[in-house]
Amino acid sequence: MINPKIEQALNKQLNEEFFSSYLYLSMSANFEKLNLAGFANWMKVQSQEEYSHAMKFYNYLIQKGGTAVLEQINKPDTKWENTLAMFEATYAHEQHITECINNLVDLALEVKDHATNSFLAWYVNEQVEEEANVTKLIEELKMVGENKTGLFMMDRELAQRVFVDATATAK
Ligand code: FEO
Repeated sequence: MINPKIEQALNKQLNEEFFSSYLYLSMSANFEKLNLAGFANWMKVQSQEEYSHAMKFYNYLIQKGGTAVLEQINKPDTKWENTLAMFEATYAHEQHITECINNLVDLALEVKDHATNSFLAWYVNEQVEEEANVTKLIEELKMVGENKTGLFMMDRELAQRVFVDATATAK
């Protein structure tokens, strides 16, 4: 049995995670157009991560005897001023997601749903990592500034990122 309030809130977060996947794929497409294949790769992997975050909610809802409801996904932005603006938008979005996760934890504690509280701990930790990764890239981009060689070097480095399903090893 799942508390109906929790079921509804988890479904809302399911949609948030799918939107995150959409948003980062949109950024990836934007980087492709700018011929920054490494940045495009980094964002595509980010999008895959978000899909896995969504599926972790999806699977949990089903495991708890709830229903996963797939609502409409909002259209993400398609244009940003520059590379730095894209990463700043990423950081702002991750802060929003952290707030959503924190609110979910508050709700789980309020209704004494300890299983969901324990399930959400994975996301609490993940958000620390997500925000730190993006902050590091923003700092690097600020250092690089308008320097094309610096941007090229970063692009080469970000091309190395591969998707690892972190949700597969953690329940
Ligand atoms: Fe699923 Fe980037 O938070």
